[in-house]
Amino acid sequence: MKDTIVVLDFGSQYAQLIARRVREQGVYSELFPHDASAAEVMALQPKGFVLSGGPASVYAPGAPQIPPYVLESGLPVLGVCYGMQALTHALGGTVNPAPQREYGLVHLEVLRPNPLLPEGRYPVWMSHGDRIEALPEGFEVLARTANSPVAAMDDLKRRYFGVQFHPEVQHTPRGGEILRRFAVEICGATPNWTPENIIADRVASIRAQVGGERVLAAVSGGVDSSVATALVHRAVGDQLTAVFVDTGLLRAGEREQVEAAFRGALGAHLVVVDAAAEFLQALRGVTDPEAKRRTIGEKFIRIFEREARRLGQPRFLVQGTIYPDVVESRAPDRANAHRIKSHHNVGGLPENMAFDLVEPLRYLFKDEVRAVGEALGLPRALVWRPPFPGPGLAVRCLGEVTAARVAKLRAADAIFTGALEAAGLLRSSAREESAAKVSQAFAVLLPVKSVGVMGDQRTYQETIVLRAVTTDDFMTADWARLPADLLAEVSRRIVNEVDGVNRVVYDITTKPPATIEWE
Ligand code: XMP
Repeated sequence: MKDTIVVLDFGSQYAQLIARRVREQGVYSELFPHDASAAEVMALQPKGFVLSGGPASVYAPGAPQIPPYVLESGLPVLGVCYGMQALTHALGGTVNPAPQREYGLVHLEVLRPNPLLPEGRYPVWMSHGDRIEALPEGFEVLARTANSPVAAMDDLKRRYFGVQFHPEVQHTPRGGEILRRFAVEICGATPNWTPENIIADRVASIRAQVGGERVLAAVSGGVDSSVATALVHRAVGDQLTAVFVDTGLLRAGEREQVEAAFRGALGAHLVVVDAAAEFLQALRGVTDPEAKRRTIGEKFIRIFEREARRLGQPRFLVQGTIYPDVVESRAPDRANAHRIKSHHNVGGLPENMAFDLVEPLRYLFKDEVRAVGEALGLPRALVWRPPFPGPGLAVRCLGEVTAARVAKLRAADAIFTGALEAAGLLRSSAREESAAKVSQAFAVLLPVKSVGVMGDQRTYQETIVLRAVTTDDFMTADWARLPADLLAEVSRRIVNEVDGVNRVVYDITTKPPATIEWE
């Protein structure tokens, strides 16, 4: 069993980030709601606990408290922000509102050598209104800031630690080191959560689950479905058949790229279904964005069912579900977060189909999925591909989806993204993750005609929108400040090379209030 640090979520927006940062130190970490059952959590035989921050005040009625099994376990505990306050409260110390909220970057002064915090004075990121007034018995002050006399505390005998700041955010430059010291040195976890070991771990569990049965996968060309399929192939070889449905709504070169990536390994076990005509037929006259998504989702399921029957109905189906999806669907505090758009994926699960699911990425973060993809030898273009909506070009072709309009959009999109790639502006590796590069870029075709003049001729044609955004998480986004010369050249080429387009505009809206896609 791999060494695991359990993060208990007290409702912090950063709880996932704690688990991710711990894993970046090479130690496996899983996130649970603070009220998860002891049996479920202890089944992982954790090496230690991190208690996350949270919006509550420990004295407020109904404020979440540390479950008894955590303190009874005898394992090391690190409380972060609210987690530290909950620890203080549980062990008999006092927490009070601070005279001043502390928010943003502050300087931490570490008072003595200790196993958790590197010595010295360095910046950390704070966000709290309450603070520790009296330490619980057995604790000592470990560090302070101008506004927090107890910015960190420890009880070395019981191996309990608390930090008022957030080691998990990027604004705390030494945060990774602090989490590593906790996980590796204090909890004694072995830092062996590397891509190679992740692959070995996943392969073993896929084999155990699948046995000698046959498995079906739907590849879409997206990162998750590609890596999931490659992992299952590594595990069970020829027992796997992958189906790629060409919906006719793909970008230029996409089908070829998927075939090139998988044909070598899968051979005849890669089935490409040419379904463009069927999708266009189903979309005839459909202009409402949600209706488009429903139509495409339905169609996909019908086609997939047909292929599954043709292939003798394999028992298992591969799903590219990743850890953030799992966490978000079980966190009680976020149950009400509502959907802005129905994000059902082409390649998504046909709900009433008789399959058992294989979900090899269920416990992996996106960056781990990419690292595994690289280690499995998938092409970089695939592993680093920006997200592409399941319904494909249909939701970027506003108004009716016809073969001619999709062709127009595809051509304009290829010119735009090709120019960005040639200029080295598209993000394509982990090292570029934080650089101000474009995270996602595409063209949108509007059913809006405007007047133009080409040669001596009056034109009355449709409009292309260019959309390019920078973002870390796709939840919020800024429009990319692209070089004006690049935009000029892209615009010139689109009106010259794409028939039926006489105007190009650039979308300068942030998300929110706009979304990244137009439908
Ligand atoms: P929005 O438009 O909601 O998009 O700001 C956020 C991110 O999600 C992608 N997106 C989708 N991805 N199925 C997907 O897998 C979908 O139906 C879908 N709709 C939007 C979008 O491209 C952006 O990266």
